[in-house]
Amino acid sequence: MNKRGNWNSRIGFILAASGSAVGLGNIWRFPYTAGKNGGAAFLLIYLAAIVVLALPVLLAEAALGRATGRNPVGAFKALAPRGLWKGFGYLGVTAGFMILSYYAVIAGWTLGYFLKALRGEFNALAAAGKDAAVVSQQTFGTFTATPVLQIILLAVFLGLTVYVTSRGVSGGIERWSKLLMPVLLVLLVVLMIRSLTLDGAGVGLKFYLKPDFSRITPSVVIAAMGQAFFSLSLGVGTMITYGSYVRKNENLPASAGWIALCDTIIAITAGFIIFPAVFSQGMDPAGGPGLVFNILPVIFAKIPLGQVFGSLFFLLLAIAALTTTVSLLEVPVAYFIDERGWTRRRAAWITGIFCVIMGIPAALSQGSVGFLSRLPLVNMDFLSLWDLIWGNLVLSIGALFIAVFVGWVWKSSKALMEISRGGGRFRLALFWVIAIRYVAPALILVILLSKIL
Ligand code: TRP
Repeated sequence: MNKRGNWNSRIGFILAASGSAVGLGNIWRFPYTAGKNGGAAFLLIYLAAIVVLALPVLLAEAALGRATGRNPVGAFKALAPRGLWKGFGYLGVTAGFMILSYYAVIAGWTLGYFLKALRGEFNALAAAGKDAAVVSQQTFGTFTATPVLQIILLAVFLGLTVYVTSRGVSGGIERWSKLLMPVLLVLLVVLMIRSLTLDGAGVGLKFYLKPDFSRITPSVVIAAMGQAFFSLSLGVGTMITYGSYVRKNENLPASAGWIALCDTIIAITAGFIIFPAVFSQGMDPAGGPGLVFNILPVIFAKIPLGQVFGSLFFLLLAIAALTTTVSLLEVPVAYFIDERGWTRRRAAWITGIFCVIMGIPAALSQGSVGFLSRLPLVNMDFLSLWDLIWGNLVLSIGALFIAVFVGWVWKSSKALMEISRGGGRFRLALFWVIAIRYVAPALILVILLSKIL
């Protein structure tokens, strides 16, 4: 067998799946969720959830995809033609679409901030001295409360996503992201060093690394579990779809391990950038979805050539988000192509336009429209509510279904045959079987119920 060929094909899957996994979930969502949920205590549970819940489910999704060679709806149909299971496929397709509708709003922010950085709008922060954080928060508040701009950025980002998706994912974008993602990582390390050397950074480090166990509540555990599934793009069938493109001679467990490792390293690095800086500037770590956009310009203002670094950073972040939105749009698009016989172009454009419309309430919920910015009853803004429902609860329920389906309906023994095909011996087979049949279903259920009861 051609050794180089093997390596090439394995790296192809790892790159595509990491392109989906690494995105705003790591750099925008992880830090503000950790900040809201107690910092280090959250980090600890998050890491546990990655190993015990997310990694086994990732392997299950990839195996399901490779064994059937289908999209999520088709995969369930193929293995369980009767019964309600294929209904889960539809839930996944819907969830992927709904996540995209608000994710694209944040992705639009990265474009807006790229332009602001390029035009040197953040240079004034350097002159603001001690007030830099306050000025930065005002800039962000004005930005997100400008309705027309927010809708334009949402539409532009989804337009880019549709453009890439309609031409097929495998071409340019994959090669690009291969080149650019290491550059993003280098930039993250530069920012981390600057942030760690700010005055008062130590308080932030302590918040991030020294757990206060009294802060662990059911909400914190739910948030950590949801973040683990969200960050690895699980629970909606993306990894089933991507798994369906993996060759039979590839080592699935090793690939899954690499994907989870890359994703986790980037999220943890983002935390090392955000928390030292947030505390050193006297900001509130529980500040919510704007946290990262509030603090990053302040850091750039304190770096030589900050304008260059800042523009480059937001551009790379936008590209990381684009490889993710493309994978999100791919779920409904693959469904319309496979099951409804649409052309790729038609599927991408229709889904994309519909997604812009569905994204408008989220785009207007950050200060533009009072009602959407503070919904009655739930007391949160529309974007946060959508993120909680689709990006947390539905994802976790999806992951629960996948674990039960693979462990009990398809049967873990058959799944194991698929998983160990093409690799060496799968040393953690027993751990995986226990995790997918017992630990994941029981834990996810208990964690979800603990909040309701
Ligand atoms: N994992 C992506 C990120 O971290 C976001 C995401 C969540 C996602 N769920 C998904 C992507 C499902 C694709 C499919 O940015």
